[in-house]
Amino acid sequence: MRIRDIDIANGLALAPMEGVTDVTFRRLIRQIGGCGLFFTEFIPAAGLIHDASRCLRMAQFDEDERPIAIQVYGREPSVMADAARYVQDLGADIVDLNMGCPSKRVCKNSGGSALMKEPDLALKIVEAMRAAVDVPFTVKMRSGWDQENKNAPSLARRCAEAGAEAVTVHWRTRADGYKGQRELDTIAAVVDAVDVPVFANGDIIDGQSGLDTWNRTGAEGLMIGRGAIRDPWVFQRIVRAQSGEKPLQVTASDKERVLLGYYAALRATFHNDHGALGRMKKIAGYFTDGLPHGIILRQAIYHSNTVEEAYDRVGSYFEDLRLLESGKPNPFLAREAG
Ligand SMILES: Cc1cc2nc3c(=O)[nH]c(=O)nc-3n(C[C@H](O)[C@H](O)[C@H](O)COP(=O)(O)O)c2cc1C
Repeated sequence: MRIRDIDIANGLALAPMEGVTDVTFRRLIRQIGGCGLFFTEFIPAAGLIHDASRCLRMAQFDEDERPIAIQVYGREPSVMADAARYVQDLGADIVDLNMGCPSKRVCKNSGGSALMKEPDLALKIVEAMRAAVDVPFTVKMRSGWDQENKNAPSLARRCAEAGAEAVTVHWRTRADGYKGQRELDTIAAVVDAVDVPVFANGDIIDGQSGLDTWNRTGAEGLMIGRGAIRDPWVFQRIVRAQSGEKPLQVTASDKERVLLGYYAALRATFHNDHGALGRMKKIAGYFTDGLPHGIILRQAIYHSNTVEEAYDRVGSYFEDLRLLESGKPNPFLAREAG
């Protein structure tokens, strides 16, 4: 898959996720491999052009993680154009516009998915951002505002006609939040409506769901968010499923090494352990979802008061998991019973 002259290896992208996909998380995904394009978490356009240090931190990336897409959100076309120029100057390979965020905070000011309800304003923003930068410009949206207004196909077409060079579509509407009935026909309709590459997004968690989404939407690319926190090997799994290779085996020790390595990196990044512990808990909420008896580890991490306590609990969970993998009587059940 290509966006203009940028090659997207395996047609796979890591979704932008606020409070997750910072440079530390993206390093973890890179280290495991398989992902061809990285998005930063979304950055408020207004904050960025005022050089707010938090916004600049959100835009930080490693030179060797290219191609990197920096995503911005907001509602004022001129401010959005300035922000697009700004992130291009920071070195973004791709500038992405957020039209998908459902949060009240973002929608209240007509940013994020609220733009889907105001397509004319959305188009003004697209035109302003497009004109402001030379690098490829892309848009990420939901399937619509609600079930009655699934306007992604027409809006995506207008965006592409105005110069967007790729479109990502999350199958949910804004009203769905993070629930809703999986529905891929609207993404397929977007693929038919535009002549630029499309990333299909939403609930891709393994090789099977990746192939299924590809087949049912006809999209060139897949974008994966929560599935990559739950299982950072998901990109590798999809690559293997696509080429018919046998599924990847990831052992308890591999998972422990990756989780503890990531936790150590977080600790080094955050200025204090309080911040690091908060982020560890957030990540644990997803990562443990993919583990046998993961709820035990999740609760243990949630109830940790210090980083050391969290480390210890990760260690004892994985000791038990190794026992389980070696065919010993299930230590988790034994503990529950005891
Ligand atoms: C914690 C979290 C933060 C998110 N932040 C952003 C964001 O900054 N920008 C954006 O376009 N979407 C954001 N999203 C939406 C994801 O990019 C993605 O569209 C959504 O989670 C569906 O994909 P998934 O099922 O693969 O997670 C966020 C999602 C989550 C769970």
